[in-house]
Amino acid sequence: MIRIFAVCFILLSFTSPSNSFNSNEESKFNQNVIATAEDELIQSGPFVGAVSDVSATFIVKPMKLSKVKFQLSEDSSFSNSFYTDEVVSDENKFNFTKIQINELKPGTKYFYRAVLDENTTERVHSFKTFPSEKNYNFSFGFGSCQQGYGATTPDLFPVIAKDSLSFFLQIGDWTYPDFGNPGKGYNESLDKLELTYRNRYDYSYPFNSEVLSRMPIAYLYDDHDFAGNDADGTNAFKSNSLKAYDMFFPHYKMDNPDNGIWQKFRFGDVEFFLLDLRTQRSANSNAMNAQGLFEPPSGHSILNGFTIDGENQKKWLENSLKNSDAKWKVIVSTVIFNPRYLDALKDERIAQMFPKVQKGIVDKWAGFPEDIEFLQNIIKDNNIKNVIMVSGDSHSSYIDDGTNSVIPEISSSNLDTKNSKLGFLTQLAGYDIWNQGSYNEDGHAYGRVSFYYGSEEYAMLEVIDQTGAVVLSYRLNDQ
Ligand SMILES: [Fe+2]
Repeated sequence: MIRIFAVCFILLSFTSPSNSFNSNEESKFNQNVIATAEDELIQSGPFVGAVSDVSATFIVKPMKLSKVKFQLSEDSSFSNSFYTDEVVSDENKFNFTKIQINELKPGTKYFYRAVLDENTTERVHSFKTFPSEKNYNFSFGFGSCQQGYGATTPDLFPVIAKDSLSFFLQIGDWTYPDFGNPGKGYNESLDKLELTYRNRYDYSYPFNSEVLSRMPIAYLYDDHDFAGNDADGTNAFKSNSLKAYDMFFPHYKMDNPDNGIWQKFRFGDVEFFLLDLRTQRSANSNAMNAQGLFEPPSGHSILNGFTIDGENQKKWLENSLKNSDAKWKVIVSTVIFNPRYLDALKDERIAQMFPKVQKGIVDKWAGFPEDIEFLQNIIKDNNIKNVIMVSGDSHSSYIDDGTNSVIPEISSSNLDTKNSKLGFLTQLAGYDIWNQGSYNEDGHAYGRVSFYYGSEEYAMLEVIDQTGAVVLSYRLNDQ
């Protein structure tokens, strides 16, 4: 009885958001950008990405065609300052302007601001370059799902801003443009896509004014910010989404930019592998047979469902993991990896009574067992140690030490959305998926992963709520 009751609850949680969307909650913060008086020269930004020990890429969108450069200094008063190259913004790129600077000092805090047509703008932001040494203790933060569907309050962002994070990973559903402005099918045009990025960077929203103003960011789109709910590689306009990401976000070098946004970067003795789980994904619907049961055909892939030119993402991930000499390897996935969800997928009661529950699960890695096995085998066959999975998407937070998730996994995805409490609900239904706990309060949360070197070497996986309290934690020792 309890089980069936719980399964009903789960139905609500896994259901496609469009079915349970409450227009009163819609896009409270998803407004077009309006420049404040003191920043009337800037429409979006500035902020910084693609940071390494010696380089960084700044981005800003001036209000109009302008000459753009950035001023940098090690102190906030900009004494002893220096400048990046100056470029003229490009109207074909909607004036979004990215400028890379090299030859910075490692492990150094820099203040920066945009200079537009010789006018020094007033938004002074800061970041710290990555260290040159390997054994450097640090933390990064991550999360997903914000500024749109189910958004409540932005109370978490000042907490993230005060944390001592070396950077933040936004791993998807950074606004829900398919639900609001510009609406379904928005990636049919670059004009609409550009609006989605302006909305994302809305400076009246504290993620931008408080978090991105003081740390570097890396970003991966998930379904809603790629093309729409549960979107996959069959999307007709996916090349527009790729183009927009490249024009409007300061990403790391993409290894096959015509086909996807997969990329990697390194911080100290940790290497990060950022996956694109949308552009190369086989259609989720292919996984279901005529009877509505889960039966994915051979080759059904979340990493490489299409024949493409150049290195495909599956090969890239294999080569990248095999060739990495970093002590820790963090795989960044926009959707949950934990293969234990397969149990629920194979549950015929769920398949027959709640097809929408099933639809939610086939969108996770669990819908792609061939790729799960592939990744497991790479790790096992090559004796690769210290792999951590970081994931988002489900509007809640959880940790598993690898007992269920195979790879130790921390998932956190309720930055400002309502907590779906999926961990609690799946437990009620009899599926014990996250053995280090789930976050089941009515709050918001982000993930923090810290690395410690010395006599004891370990990674700390934590989920932090909007009061700054650690609500879940797991210590993963160096193997
Ligand atoms: Fe989401």
